[in-house]
Amino acid sequence: MNNPKLQVDFAGISLRTPLVAASGTFGFGREYSRFGPLDDWGAIVGKGLTLRPSQGNPPPRVTETPAGMLNSIGLQNPGVEAFLRDEMPDFASLGLPVLANISGHTVEEYGEIAAKLEGSGIAGIEVNVSCPNVKAGGIVFGTDPKALAAVTRAVRRRTGLPVIVKLSPNVTDVVALAQAAEGEGADGLSMINTLLGMAIDIHTRRPILANTFGGLSGPAIKPVALRMIWQVYRAVKIPILGMGGITCAADAIEFLLAGASAVAVGTGIFHNPGIAKEIREGIQQYIVEKGFASVTQLVGAAHQDGEGKGCGG
Ligand SMILES: Cc1cc2nc3c(=O)[nH]c(=O)nc-3n(C[C@H](O)[C@H](O)[C@H](O)COP(=O)(O)O)c2cc1C
Repeated sequence: MNNPKLQVDFAGISLRTPLVAASGTFGFGREYSRFGPLDDWGAIVGKGLTLRPSQGNPPPRVTETPAGMLNSIGLQNPGVEAFLRDEMPDFASLGLPVLANISGHTVEEYGEIAAKLEGSGIAGIEVNVSCPNVKAGGIVFGTDPKALAAVTRAVRRRTGLPVIVKLSPNVTDVVALAQAAEGEGADGLSMINTLLGMAIDIHTRRPILANTFGGLSGPAIKPVALRMIWQVYRAVKIPILGMGGITCAADAIEFLLAGASAVAVGTGIFHNPGIAKEIREGIQQYIVEKGFASVTQLVGAAHQDGEGKGCGG
């Protein structure tokens, strides 16, 4: 699949389509490459990596919700070194840009992981800041502009690769966080990560997830994601990878119109492993029907000056 109208340059990474597989929902690509060629995807973000191997949280760690799912996987992964040794050779040979998603327990760990990925064939680093800072009493990096700035700085100093900071929606003022990342040299932003939630089993009268809380993803979070992308688009110059509940081409187009330069799909893949083809074809058809020269013309096209300043009903 090679259609110049769908090509996008995202934070210095050339994508053949604006569709990206979201971190944690596509493994390292091997599982899904069995369903056929990955031609409709522009890039894949691998599942979250930490410095050392992690078993993640105890089960149960996923549960379905009316319009999405809750997960508390807890970053189960082999650790960055085993990833580079055992996974990267296959991951890098999938025929499209592959990005690493990294998490740390301290600012220094983020920098260390970024340095290890240098020269590995990774096309860019997505920085997951939805993790607790163990040196600051467990406050989540991505909820404090100063902590987020420190993480971005540490990664920026240790790598020449594109740095994309993945924002948490569990904040009051997402724009302040976006500006903190931009101010420290992030090349792009990913948004949004999951919204903190929970579910209770009325028969056992206990939380369903062993971890009590989990991250809500899927269609339920789409309006929140769109609102945040809209706000951030107006406040920063770096490009946005938009995600949160995308399940069809119309959803993806909404994200582009709100200001995302490319879009990622996560939970939607679980329902429909062929989702990328459907979305790619739908975007292509929309561009032709509406007379656009390329997908880049859709980015932020819903904005007019002075919009989006009021408070909702
Ligand atoms: C099972 C699962 C695992 C995830 N793992 C990660 C992860 O390791 N790192 C990360 O930054 N985001 C992770 N996410 C968040 C997704 O990448 C994405 O930001 C979020 O789910 C919203 O998109 P969606 O509604 O299309 O799933 C995970 C999401 C799910 C559902």
